[in-house]
Amino acid sequence: MFKPIGQKIIHLDEVDSTNNYAAILISEGKGEHGAVILADIQTAGRGQRGAEWQSKAGENLLMTLIIDTDNLSAMDQFVISEVTALSMVSFLRKIGISSMIKWPNDILVREKKIAGVLIENQLQGAYIGKSIIGIGLNVNQLSFNELNATSIRSELNQFTPVVDLLMSWIHSFNEEWAFYHSFGREKVEEKYLNCLFGWNCFVEMEDFNGRFFGSVDGIEKSGKLRVKKEGEFLQYDLKELRFIFQNRP
Ligand code: BTN
Repeated sequence: MFKPIGQKIIHLDEVDSTNNYAAILISEGKGEHGAVILADIQTAGRGQRGAEWQSKAGENLLMTLIIDTDNLSAMDQFVISEVTALSMVSFLRKIGISSMIKWPNDILVREKKIAGVLIENQLQGAYIGKSIIGIGLNVNQLSFNELNATSIRSELNQFTPVVDLLMSWIHSFNEEWAFYHSFGREKVEEKYLNCLFGWNCFVEMEDFNGRFFGSVDGIEKSGKLRVKKEGEFLQYDLKELRFIFQNRP
């Protein structure tokens, strides 16, 4: 059953990581479905694959959403990534920014990263109990050192108060989460593939054998990426493949 998110918002000045804060709330029995935690500053923000997530104080949207997945099978957990990535694409479209998804859930604008997602699912046997969905969206930051990143301000050339964007994203997430509950994973996947970098077109990639040109052919149920390379179908897990960009995001 679809249950909307965003009824409870916890705004912190500073925290180590909003994902850590969400995990603590859940462990104390206070992590209710739909709660969104946002922070102006994270002192130990975490990215995918153990990386750090750096963000200038007060300039970006750093938030974590807690959802109850209603006993979503662990085999279907990738749909949470898909819904989250789609909510970002749709939210950005509403404010006039066209974006793409880089598998599994980086959000790119003109091949530069504008948002990253770190999902931490709490497994209960074969099911997902709570899902902790952390999102870092670059809003007003203009310089990113050596990273190939962009922000809403860089794209629109205007300052936007960070909290002004929150309700709009919550609305987009609710739309995508409701769509999943109405139409199921396959339909979500169709939308996801349509926004996916490399879907049905030749792009340069690199695996453990080196660089090659191939196209993204689909997503396995497990969330692995299916790639077509010279008539052969290959599957990749995180870390096993990277896309080659002019400037690497
Ligand atoms: C990535 O590596 O692309 C994922 C980045 C996710 C960063 C966000 S910021 C809010 C939330 N809290 C964290 O510690 N990480 C996520």
